[in-house]
Amino acid sequence: MGTKVLTHNVQRLEGQIDIPGDKSISHRSVMFGAIANGKTTVTNFLKGEDCLSTISCFQKLGVKIEETGDSLVIEGKGWDHLTEPSSVLNVGNSGTTIRLMLGLLSGRPMHTTFIGDDSIGKRPMKRVITPLREMGAILDGRNNGDYTPLSLRGGGLRPISYQLPIASAQVKSSIILAALQAKGTTTIVEPAQTRDHTERMIRQFGGHIETDNLTITISGPQTLKGTQVNVPGDISSAAFFLVAGAIVEEGKILLRNVGLNPTRTGIIDVLNKMGAKMTIHPNKDEEFEPVGDITIEPSHLTGTVIEGDLIPRLIDEVPIIALLATQANGKTIIKDAEELKVKETNRIDTVVNELLKLGADITATDDGMIINGPTKLHGSVVSSHGDHRIGMMLAVASLICTGELTLEEADAIAVSYPNFFSDLSQLIN
Ligand code: S3P
Repeated sequence: MGTKVLTHNVQRLEGQIDIPGDKSISHRSVMFGAIANGKTTVTNFLKGEDCLSTISCFQKLGVKIEETGDSLVIEGKGWDHLTEPSSVLNVGNSGTTIRLMLGLLSGRPMHTTFIGDDSIGKRPMKRVITPLREMGAILDGRNNGDYTPLSLRGGGLRPISYQLPIASAQVKSSIILAALQAKGTTTIVEPAQTRDHTERMIRQFGGHIETDNLTITISGPQTLKGTQVNVPGDISSAAFFLVAGAIVEEGKILLRNVGLNPTRTGIIDVLNKMGAKMTIHPNKDEEFEPVGDITIEPSHLTGTVIEGDLIPRLIDEVPIIALLATQANGKTIIKDAEELKVKETNRIDTVVNELLKLGADITATDDGMIINGPTKLHGSVVSSHGDHRIGMMLAVASLICTGELTLEEADAIAVSYPNFFSDLSQLIN
């Protein structure tokens, strides 16, 4: 399953990287392109395995999607042209694909069955099934609909008022996609602000959605219009290089075209709080999603506390932040992050166990972890456990290890960053 022996003892990282497309926005561009009327062209689409799963699911629903070079062209014909698939929809490793598609297909008068890989089979789906059932969708699956395989019979939906029990953009987006089809007004209240790419993209496709602090209001039914989407670079991918640039001894890295949506920039707040030498250059003229370039240099870092409303703004960056904290002076505490337990792996356990093998001073807690630094890390045999973000965190850790690091299941990284190793090696040479 793709074992890799990685470069260690790297003194200097120098150069620039064009950050590949944002995974969350790439998924949504296919989904909105498919339900809109007219052609949608997507540039800088992320061709990671997760987003390819979304494409193949929509192709099974009869949507014509073509790749031309770096762009994707989606021939949207509106909601009514999605056709009942003759085989199961396989979402692979992708939680975003399954949770958003369940909402999107809840209003369609057809039957669909969803499956995924072993990791998807362990991820809770009740969080979307409960509100979608309340709206009128007929859903079932293992453990009364909590786990795949899941089956859905969609149809006429009613609007709901829903207080989200957890801060989750996937759950919010699933309900929004259903609400676009329900006759009447749906209201959703979030416990904390989560990524708002769905809300922004509805406006980009000519739809209407109101947001007032943590309350979202959406009236249906709505039809959307195909458009041009330029996907910004994924700040969650950039995060690995931000940390690499801060913890090696010498050099300077420029990361170009990074998405700077404030619902995603928790990693920048943390780097600033810890004292990182970083400069942000925002682009002036982006209409729907803010973008900019970031430079990062070796930094003297101090431990910090990461908690509360900051957590949803950096939820996917916790593994790499844990590595960052091993190189900071003093204690870093990460709390209020129980959601990490239901990601691609239980990320509290996988982060702590793998970093312990490298000599880190790190302890798991019920809702996060505590890290004392700085510690010198040494090489070992570690594994991604099939989790792309654990794999990339360990690859960055290898740069500062005193001995050889062997990474098992390195191929998981292709889920969100197929060119990760070639981009990283450009900075080393
Ligand atoms: C995502 C939302 C987050 C994030 C995931 C992508 C999205 O999940 O962890 O990688 O695209 O909406 P949750 O909504 O479950 O927190």
